[in-house]
Amino acid sequence: MQSGRSAGSAPVVAIVGATGAVGVELIRCLEERRFPLSELRLYASARSAGRTLPFRGEPLPVRELGEDSFRGVDVALFSAGGGTSRRFAPLAVQQGAVVVDNSSAFRMDPGVPLVVPEINPEAVRGHRGIIANPNCSTIIAITPLWPVHRANPVRRMIVATYQAASGAGAAAMEELRESTRAYLEGRPYENRVLPHPYAFNLFCHNTKIDPETGYNEEETKVVRETHKIFGDDSIRIAATCVRVPVLRAHSIAINFECERPITPGQVREIMQTAPGVKLVDDPERNYFPMPKDASGHDPILVGRIRRDISDPSGRSIALFVAGDQLLKGAALNAVQIAELL
Ligand code: A2P
Repeated sequence: MQSGRSAGSAPVVAIVGATGAVGVELIRCLEERRFPLSELRLYASARSAGRTLPFRGEPLPVRELGEDSFRGVDVALFSAGGGTSRRFAPLAVQQGAVVVDNSSAFRMDPGVPLVVPEINPEAVRGHRGIIANPNCSTIIAITPLWPVHRANPVRRMIVATYQAASGAGAAAMEELRESTRAYLEGRPYENRVLPHPYAFNLFCHNTKIDPETGYNEEETKVVRETHKIFGDDSIRIAATCVRVPVLRAHSIAINFECERPITPGQVREIMQTAPGVKLVDDPERNYFPMPKDASGHDPILVGRIRRDISDPSGRSIALFVAGDQLLKGAALNAVQIAELL
């Protein structure tokens, strides 16, 4: 599906969910990456109509999203939840826009490319109007693993996530701040956004658990989306996804098994040149990837690279990653997809 824009002119870009945690980062990424656009339109719910948000030094009005919002829009970046995407993304496509959708609404649709630009940029070519941005834990786990997989195919992966509040939106980040303040001041706090007390606590990811498998939706997304993006359903994957009281960067412990023997030195060497990745691996100082260091930065930090000693065959590695959920896990990846267009 082509947009109505004449060849060579800069596109009109819309952000749906511009006032949200990801929306604000989308605006920043477009600005910082000097995305060539002729106009930026910001949409959110009726609650935000009339607000302004800064872009390139100017206050831009936030408008209420409506059925005709996409007339003249070439690229629409959606981050307003699955329900809004399901209702409005098809309308945007009908009106001539290409949609990059951050929700899970279309990710597993066989006609919708699911793209991490460092891994499968060519998949963008097959789009029919909608391109899906993967789940944040999936992106952060598999971007560093892709160059390893190409050198020595990954056959099995066990991941355990330590996920930040930002993945549940701006209101969850505020709940973490507020409940921490209340906890330290000895005040009672009733959680409203997340299902359990968040300050000084951690809990199973706040998505539904499949009664048959026992896995929550986030864990299932990591498995299915990795298969789709790597184009290989035979990789055996199990995930444990946990929300931790960190504001905006996810950390993930990953153990993986390759087809052939592999050494920590080989993985470290691959990480030195892996796109979108930065090696942070200093055992002498006990300095490894931390969410504090990943927050606000584009690259996914990778370290603690060591043999997985539970596999005596020498084919397994353990490592630890941290990546900004709002940037590479969401807004940055979406803007990189828009750049491919
Ligand atoms: P608003 O701020 O007006 O509620 P987050 O993921 O941080 O919770 O942000 C969600 C984003 O999605 C916000 O920008 C929010 O706008 C927007 N949003 C939520 N529901 C709708 C809707 N029905 N129509 C348009 N935007 C919506």
